[in-house]
Amino acid sequence: MLTSALPYANGPIHLGHLAGAYLPGDIFARYCRLKDRDVVYICGSDEHGVPIMLRARDEGVHPQEIVDRYHAIIEDSFQRVGMTFDYYGRTSSKVHHETSREFFRNLAAKDVFVTKKDKQLYDPEAKMFLADRFIRGTCPNCSYEDAYGDQCENCGTSLSPKELINPRSAITDAEPIDKETIHWYLPLADFQPKLEAWINAHPEWRSNVMGQIQSWFKDGLRDRAVTRDLPWGVRIPEEIAESAGIEPDGKVLYVWFDAPIGYISATREWAQQQGDPEKWKPYWQDKDSKLVHFIGKDNIVFHCLIFPSMLMAHGDYVLPMNVPANEFLNLEGNKFSTSRNYAVWLNDYLDSHDPDSLRYALASNMPETRDADFSWQDFQARHNNELADILGNFVNRTFTFIKKYFDGALPTRGKLDDLDQEMIESIAEARDAVGFHLDKFQYKEAIRRFMDLARFANKYFNDKEPWKTRKDDLETCATTLNICAQVTHALAVLMNPFIPFASNKLWQMLQLAGAPEEASWDAVGELHLADGHQIGELVILFQKIDDAVIQAEIEKLQKALAPAEEEAPEPGLPQITFDEFMKVELKTAKVLEAEKVKKAKKLLKLQIEVGREKRQLVAGLAEHYAPEDLVGKTVVIVANLKPAVIRGVESQGMLLAVEEDGKMTVISPEAPVASGKTVR
Ligand code: 2FM
Ligand code: ZN
Repeated sequence: MLTSALPYANGPIHLGHLAGAYLPGDIFARYCRLKDRDVVYICGSDEHGVPIMLRARDEGVHPQEIVDRYHAIIEDSFQRVGMTFDYYGRTSSKVHHETSREFFRNLAAKDVFVTKKDKQLYDPEAKMFLADRFIRGTCPNCSYEDAYGDQCENCGTSLSPKELINPRSAITDAEPIDKETIHWYLPLADFQPKLEAWINAHPEWRSNVMGQIQSWFKDGLRDRAVTRDLPWGVRIPEEIAESAGIEPDGKVLYVWFDAPIGYISATREWAQQQGDPEKWKPYWQDKDSKLVHFIGKDNIVFHCLIFPSMLMAHGDYVLPMNVPANEFLNLEGNKFSTSRNYAVWLNDYLDSHDPDSLRYALASNMPETRDADFSWQDFQARHNNELADILGNFVNRTFTFIKKYFDGALPTRGKLDDLDQEMIESIAEARDAVGFHLDKFQYKEAIRRFMDLARFANKYFNDKEPWKTRKDDLETCATTLNICAQVTHALAVLMNPFIPFASNKLWQMLQLAGAPEEASWDAVGELHLADGHQIGELVILFQKIDDAVIQAEIEKLQKALAPAEEEAPEPGLPQITFDEFMKVELKTAKVLEAEKVKKAKKLLKLQIEVGREKRQLVAGLAEHYAPEDLVGKTVVIVANLKPAVIRGVESQGMLLAVEEDGKMTVISPEAPVASGKTVR
């Protein structure tokens, strides 16, 4: 039972996410299938939680619209990058709501929860309780003024809303008041001894994961609220709300309570789709089933402590066999930042590049036990020097030779010498080494051992010098090429977990039936191709990537960094009084005529109407608006600015406009307003 973290459906996913939780899961799932293990690999969209609600609020739409949009985008990019989930679900589904409510009911019936009545922060303007990210304020730890109610993004401390200094509502900016509410808590301290015993029985887990868990244990686990007062989420069961004397409306499960249950609900939906609704059970409930969660390090506490406590409390489920959490991926030496758009978005990447090149670069440089850095230059080097020059080259020279000198048919293998033997044996050795490391979730080493086989095969080709033996020892030449072709077959299977698209292309070139996904890992090393087997049409597996392509990507990222650096130090102006503000006369005006100012390529001359009065105004808008686009518009002007002569043209006032990324936009009333009205 394999799972990858359910991504929040509030934005597309970027390379950091892919390297963290998805690529490792997919490589492992593909490998397990080739090993003929009975695997179900599950993922889906995490569609609850405050960030989604905030985004919906910002855009003025319903949260459902946000999750529908991003669910589709994410699912599409996963498919294009070759993810092989058996099922990709979503937590807004009916099955998920039922499954999570049932889980909650089960724990409530076992008296696992404690309920606490408590005063919590409430926004009197928006009339709602302010959970987690709905509240902002000053971090008690580092004094950062924009910390969230659940975490300070500046210093990383995990917080509760009440700890914030000067809290304010993220919705209305109102000062919150205390209002009584009731919540259900998971008493994690009660679970600590059992959790410790279980974790300590897994010394093989990654050290970075163990380190985090042990430090949680050392601090002592505390009660965790698993309900929230929010209008969006899985509602708690009606009868439980009733028995607590509250309305079920607006009381939902905490997103981190329902999200991991999403793995179970998605497996149920998969079983239904398979026509066998009970089929999900053995994967989750058979004691021999092995559960593995693929996640990024920010999810460790939820998957190693909280969800396991829930599973233990429930009693019917297996606990994870391993949680090989990855550390973070950085981008060209900086952290990914979605708010600053400093990221490589997966959907953008896939619009212009090969999915395999990315899979290869990320797997070769995976943040397994410490943070790693993605750079476009490293990406290019991996692609050009390894995929193209080693792997692609070996396949290409082998097939070209067979096409040219053996009519595209596999020449007969004759007597084997030591070198031939060594080449053949190294196939099985590589297979075992790659498998050994994948079973330990050591991707970097696994992929290196795979590429070593291609490297060795190139050396074999060189050492055997078939271009010479072709002339004086045809049997040896035939044997060499036969073995080289056998190696390409082995490579096609071994590469499938990492670079599945190339694996399929190679399969086609080899004119083999079915797909490499159906091959057997353990049979790699046998010499599958029969003498005389016909090779298909040659395609180049990897075209080299030009410097210009890489340079363009680097510049895109630099642009994302640049405005932030320029904007950051811009100080605000000193404060002014209301009276000072009132000295500025702002009025609406209607543009009657507009024309370019001769010999001044930035300026437009406008004739405007301000109530009954007509005026002339010069504005630096010529590069942003065509004159005819301004005519008829109502704008805002500073009406009492002293007239000035600009490039020989008199300007009686100034028009308000805003500049962003070098583009000017005029300020215009949102609804139709007559000209000459005072703006306040
Ligand atoms: O960190 C995240 O993106 C979460 N949406 C992961 C959830 S994982 C699981 F529990 F569903
Ligand atoms: Zn802080």
